[in-house]
Amino acid sequence: MSSKKVVKNNKATMSKPQPKVAAVKTAPKPFVKKPTTVPAAKPVSEDAGKKVANQLATVRGMKDILPPEGDGWLHMWRTAADIATAYDFHYFETPTVEQTSLFVRSIGRGTDVVDKEMYAFEDRDGGKICLRPEMTASVARAYVMHGLHTQSQPVKMWSIGPLFRYDRPQAGRYREFHQFDCETIGESAPVIDAELIAVAYNYLRDLGLSTTVRINSLGTPDDRQNYLVELTGFFRTKRGYLCEDCKKRLLKNPLRVLDCKNESCATVVAEAPQIVDWLSEPSKAFFMSVLEYLDELGIPYVLTPNLVRGLDYYTHTVFELYEDSVNETAQSALGGGGRYDLLIEQLGGQSTPAAGFAMGMERIAAAVERIAAAKAAALASGTTIADLPGPSKPVVFFAHLGEQARRRVLKLIEELRQGGIVVRHNLAKSSLKVQLELANKYNATHTLILGQKEVQDGTVLIRNMESGIQEIVDQKKVRQAIVKILES
Ligand code: HAM
Repeated sequence: MSSKKVVKNNKATMSKPQPKVAAVKTAPKPFVKKPTTVPAAKPVSEDAGKKVANQLATVRGMKDILPPEGDGWLHMWRTAADIATAYDFHYFETPTVEQTSLFVRSIGRGTDVVDKEMYAFEDRDGGKICLRPEMTASVARAYVMHGLHTQSQPVKMWSIGPLFRYDRPQAGRYREFHQFDCETIGESAPVIDAELIAVAYNYLRDLGLSTTVRINSLGTPDDRQNYLVELTGFFRTKRGYLCEDCKKRLLKNPLRVLDCKNESCATVVAEAPQIVDWLSEPSKAFFMSVLEYLDELGIPYVLTPNLVRGLDYYTHTVFELYEDSVNETAQSALGGGGRYDLLIEQLGGQSTPAAGFAMGMERIAAAVERIAAAKAAALASGTTIADLPGPSKPVVFFAHLGEQARRRVLKLIEELRQGGIVVRHNLAKSSLKVQLELANKYNATHTLILGQKEVQDGTVLIRNMESGIQEIVDQKKVRQAIVKILES
């Protein structure tokens, strides 16, 4: 029944409209003398309504996620859990509140996140704390603090949770937002960078989004030293065209000028020297190797020389994912990440290579909605949480021998995952012995083995871990073979 109808009915049943004051009849008598002139009838209830509304409003830039939208969120969460588990990442959580110094040390002064966007405050005993603006620094802290270097390396971790940045809210930019975060700590091989990009890319594809990866290399601090001299010199000649913020950045952290979205700065940046031209031979080779993996996986990418990302801890590969056929704005990156080989040591740990990415869930939700409400609804009614492959149910381990095999395995893992089969693996290990030990550790019943010969023949060895019996299977039929084994 509509509220309009109720009013109509009231009118119809009442002979005379009841004066509003009637309700006051039972209220306690006021202590003050009634004024002789009654002030213009103030909409008391409206005032009260506003007050209540103000009291109930969310903090600016933060929002509720309610049904039916919430179901779509749950699906994004499940899809993240699904793909992270399939790629052998393990769930972590760290506190939402950390010491402010953690982010100042890791993200760096001169970045927007540290200089302008942190929700930093003092708690009751004067401790300087803040709401986390990102997860990587927290994960690195936890890795050092809990001595995770003693575990089998790399340690692959994933999480989803809220982050806080005090920025001007606008479409796609919130003060509280959520990220799906994956980190691989303890391995320096370029295949790790490619695997992370594959997880990010395939996650978005699983949600129905078609994206392209923008990628660049920042090399090592040594590579950057000469580049920064060149870059600063160039920007000095264009100082008049830079915004006030960039003039300050030029002194504190010139690389950050490359991030600036100001139109005039962007025009200058387009002509600036490019870091790839200053990479050392090993850094170039590393970057080329990452790109070759992406070629092998068929992941579309665009070399983006000015992509430096807004956080100081990156070395070598940096990347962002953008939805295809959507105009780029500062807020349109669906996710981003890169390698941060120096961060763990910077925070007091041993020298430990690492890489990771984070996807912005609010932006992904908006993109999914934009593409097709119907598709989103269908996606939301997908798997139940009970169907998700759990880390406690390892079934098959995939081992490789040789560089060509490693590339092929990365592709086969994804093909199997799409076919509903989760395989454990460690692409960073080269020795077959070490990989078979890992397979035993994971209680794998079968190990798939791909060596040089199998790559040439288009086959895979399937080894029964209990009996040691091995059979040769065509790579195209490997999924069916595993299904048969699991059903027997
Ligand atoms: P980031 O580029 O700062 O990287 O954030 C990752 C993604 O989070 C962005 O691409 C965007 O989709 C989303 N995001 C960031 N800020 C906001 C905001 N204010 N409102 C809505 N969405 C936002 C990092 O946070 C790194 N920790 C990623 C990483 C992990 N690097 C290595 N490991």
